[in-house]
Amino acid sequence: MASNGSQILRTAFIYFLLSLFQSSCNAASYNVVRFGARADGRTDSSKALEAAWRAACGSTASSTVYIPRGTYMTRPVVFSGPCRSRILFQIDGKLVAPPNYQAMGNSGFWILFTKVSRLTVHGGTIDARGSQFWVCRRTGSNCPAGVRSISFMWSNNVVVSGLKSLYSQTIHVAVSQCSNIRFEHMSIIAPSRSPNTDGFIIQSSTGVTIRNSLIKTGDDCIALGPGSKNVLIEKIACGPGHGISIGSLGNSLNELGVQNVTVRNTIFTKTQNGVRIKSWARDSKSYATNIEFRNIIMRAVDNPIIIDQTYCPSNRCPRETSGVEVSNVRYSNIKGTSTTVEAVRFECSLSNPCRGIRMRNVRLSTPNRATTTTCENVHGSASGLVIPRSCF
Ligand SMILES: *[C@@H]1O[C@H](CO)[C@@H](O)[C@H](O)[C@H]1NC(C)=O
Repeated sequence: MASNGSQILRTAFIYFLLSLFQSSCNAASYNVVRFGARADGRTDSSKALEAAWRAACGSTASSTVYIPRGTYMTRPVVFSGPCRSRILFQIDGKLVAPPNYQAMGNSGFWILFTKVSRLTVHGGTIDARGSQFWVCRRTGSNCPAGVRSISFMWSNNVVVSGLKSLYSQTIHVAVSQCSNIRFEHMSIIAPSRSPNTDGFIIQSSTGVTIRNSLIKTGDDCIALGPGSKNVLIEKIACGPGHGISIGSLGNSLNELGVQNVTVRNTIFTKTQNGVRIKSWARDSKSYATNIEFRNIIMRAVDNPIIIDQTYCPSNRCPRETSGVEVSNVRYSNIKGTSTTVEAVRFECSLSNPCRGIRMRNVRLSTPNRATTTTCENVHGSASGLVIPRSCF
């Protein structure tokens, strides 16, 4: 019986080795050049990229879509799942948009991953070449809506690492309906005066991490919209840009809120805002709760700490107050310089005052005048050294 047992074990072990061998052989790499992509920066490679993706996505073993060095021009592309196994999307080269922005169409995206799980996007540069589009936007007649550079929708277990996004037409990175998605070592770059070029926009997603990244752009470095939950943002260098924002919230009555967000170990340089919570002055069931801003350095920031519940561009919400409930927000160890005297501004809703706002060790100064705090409809507490003096 004993020898029979060990024989079974031995056979099992051999099968185990065989299966390891087999799966490593099946781990295929799909080089986009073999599917017709051209590294000349001019030929439209979108069909080739999508064909390589479909091959990888249909593979039963984990597989790689490989974009070798070189510059590939592509129109809007969709990489959709579900796929049969794990995919590594390895970019050693650069993807560029067509030279004429009209060629991007009106779909709203340039590179879209949708319904994919277990995806890693690694390396590479994507350049949406947005400058002509921004000129159109600024001088303004008959511009298309513009596209987001890279979008992730309905996806989970995604890691994006070492990707550089240049000169987006609108948003650089958009995430919606995703869970467990992480961005690391990203570089996001657009000029400070490029309109609406947010770095990241997150919506309706749970378990989002953004870390060790550089974001220089013309709008929010990161914006967390309705339905953002369990978000960790750390080690970000933001600026120029409009800072890290929660919101805008409360644009509609029945809207999900934002909860459990940590922003820490982050530096803002010459940004319009530092850490901001923003809501429309409208009735809404939305909320922002369990938010923590910790270990933050402000360098020449216009509005380092701000809650603004009176957002109403173009006055489409006259005489309403915001229904968004802002509660349990902690600011701790926030230091540096403000370009305006009003370094802290809590402008909360008359009908829904902010509750549980806690400040601890905050020190914000201007070069020559004392800084101030403005408080409207806000309840909270302060501890440690807080400059400007809090109103709690
Ligand atoms: C809050 O979010 C973090 C991720 O940033 C997560 O690790 C943690 O479990 C969440 N907390 C709760 C109570 O859900």
